[in-house]
Amino acid sequence: MSDLLLQLDPLKQEAVSAMAAATDLPALEQIKGRYVGPQGKFTALMKQLGSLPKEERPAAGKVINAAKTELEATLAGRRDELELKAALPKEPVDWTAPGRRRAIGRLHPLTQVTEDIVRAFRKIGFAVADGPEVEDEHHVFDALNTPADHPARDAQDTFYLATKDRPLLRTHTSSVQIRAMKNQPPPVRIVVPGRVFRRDNADATHNPTFHQIEGLYVDKDVTVGDLKGTVEFVFRELMGKDTKIRFRPHYFSYTEPSLEIDFTNALVKKLGKDWLEIAGCGMVHPQVFENVGYDPEVWSGWAFGFGIERIAMIRYGVSDIRLFYENDIRFLNQF
Ligand code: DAH
Repeated sequence: MSDLLLQLDPLKQEAVSAMAAATDLPALEQIKGRYVGPQGKFTALMKQLGSLPKEERPAAGKVINAAKTELEATLAGRRDELELKAALPKEPVDWTAPGRRRAIGRLHPLTQVTEDIVRAFRKIGFAVADGPEVEDEHHVFDALNTPADHPARDAQDTFYLATKDRPLLRTHTSSVQIRAMKNQPPPVRIVVPGRVFRRDNADATHNPTFHQIEGLYVDKDVTVGDLKGTVEFVFRELMGKDTKIRFRPHYFSYTEPSLEIDFTNALVKKLGKDWLEIAGCGMVHPQVFENVGYDPEVWSGWAFGFGIERIAMIRYGVSDIRLFYENDIRFLNQF
């Protein structure tokens, strides 16, 4: 074999290992120049092809071309790797940092309000829970201590599905309390934003589907004082520091005592009102704890529920609930 071909293989190996050892793109370009550039060692070898005896040239040319192709492929592969490496961040990245603001579009006002409510509860350790919109009577009514003859179960108020086991569209997010407690042992600290359905005819303040947020806190020695403090904190976060809260006795089958929450602030005064009714709440009824297998002698807790549209309407001064569902861009653009 000619001298030339004997040199070829070691040179190729040398070039391949040099490329593999290059740690960035400029280094790789230098190596390229050193071996396959116009002044490169490999190029010099190719030039010697002409000095071989004529009959050896075709075979030698073939070998050299194959080696050249291999070197080019190695070079391209290493270039891809180093480009990728160059594109990756050099510093450690904080993936929890806020992202860029979206360039176009924005969140629906109801989504914005929901996120604000959830954010307020997250600050004090609540997690978000979820449950199905198509439910059964057990989770929506029975387990919440709402007996079969209770007016809330009237078909006038509830959408039942026309199948034999009577699934229904949940009339409130309270059904998720039952699911959450059945799924985990106490303590529980959850909020549940979600869509609910009632056979209300659409008018300025009612719609057959709307959104609620449910909260549930279960632990040892939970008191009405905890409930009041939490509700006050959250409404101040949502509606401003000047917000005041008032509790009135009420009735819900799943709480005892049950309370209704009114609030007031400058916005409410502007509407010409002293107080606005905003939420229902109470201490979880011992029967509800029994129904999910929690011992009511050990555990106590409170729950609340309120309408998200109602909060949004007060906050933004919207007087017709239907505006939230019409998706008129002139309305949505204002949020
Ligand atoms: N489920 C009630 C409603 O739809 C709201 C509510 C009241 C939820 C009291 C609760 C509660 O968890 O304790 O009007």
